[in-house]
Amino acid sequence: MGKENMTDSPVPNTPFPAHIGIIMDGNGRWAQKRRLKRTDGHLEGLKTARRIVEAANRLGLRYLTLYVFSTENWKRAESEVNFILSLVKRYLVAELDHYRTDRLRVRYAGDMDRLPRDIASEINKACDDTKDYDGMQVVLALNYGGRDEIVRAVNRMLGQSGDGDSKKSLPSVSEDMISAYLDNPDIPDPDFIIRTAGEFRTSNFLLWEGAYSEYYISDLFWPDWTEEDLKNAITDYGKRERRFGAVSK
Ligand code: IPE
Ligand code: IPE
Ligand code: MG
Repeated sequence: MGKENMTDSPVPNTPFPAHIGIIMDGNGRWAQKRRLKRTDGHLEGLKTARRIVEAANRLGLRYLTLYVFSTENWKRAESEVNFILSLVKRYLVAELDHYRTDRLRVRYAGDMDRLPRDIASEINKACDDTKDYDGMQVVLALNYGGRDEIVRAVNRMLGQSGDGDSKKSLPSVSEDMISAYLDNPDIPDPDFIIRTAGEFRTSNFLLWEGAYSEYYISDLFWPDWTEEDLKNAITDYGKRERRFGAVSK
């Protein structure tokens, strides 16, 4: 759970999220509406990602997780998958200067093992080059699935606790232990998860971390999103009462 920062809010004296996750959906439909190719939608979606990273940074957000490609998105045509992955690489190379100027830190969530080697190494390079920056942290969720993250966390944990006789040495597991083995355990859970393109589902995004996130669904396709839409969403967040299972004050 993030600290509530009351000062940077676009709406004074309302709670401001520390961590926002965005399910950037609707690139294909955006393109279809214009009789363009799905890949044109992804290209436009990339421009939006750029715009929203800048806007979020200006607003003083601490953590922004972008859902770029899910563990299920491999089901798409190979040409579309390759296009998306090549865009990510282009983005990382092109944005590094901007990240340096704004002291933004790049992080990664997901399973890197299944990514093409050149993309994995570009991500590692971006994470490494920016690791000392103290500005907003941008988490790229790429080949990311919430279930997959939990499975990998449990396997990491078992890998470290085993002393040979795995049956005997199986530990009893707590929520804190699983949290500690997720992809970025130092990053607070998202306060707010935005999904564009009007779909009411998680699509496997931050299943564990999002247990008490506030959700916001926008009907706009991702390529149409602007700073104004981000501000409106954050204003909406400011009106929510987060109870975490307790009773209203
Ligand atoms: C989101 O847009 C981008 C990814 C999932 C990679 P889509 O490509 O899912 O767009 P729609 O949902 O088909 O419109
Ligand atoms: C979620 O969008 C994944 C990303 C935005 C990266 P999808 O388009 O893959 O989700 P579904 O298939 O509509 O649930
Ligand atoms: Mg979609």
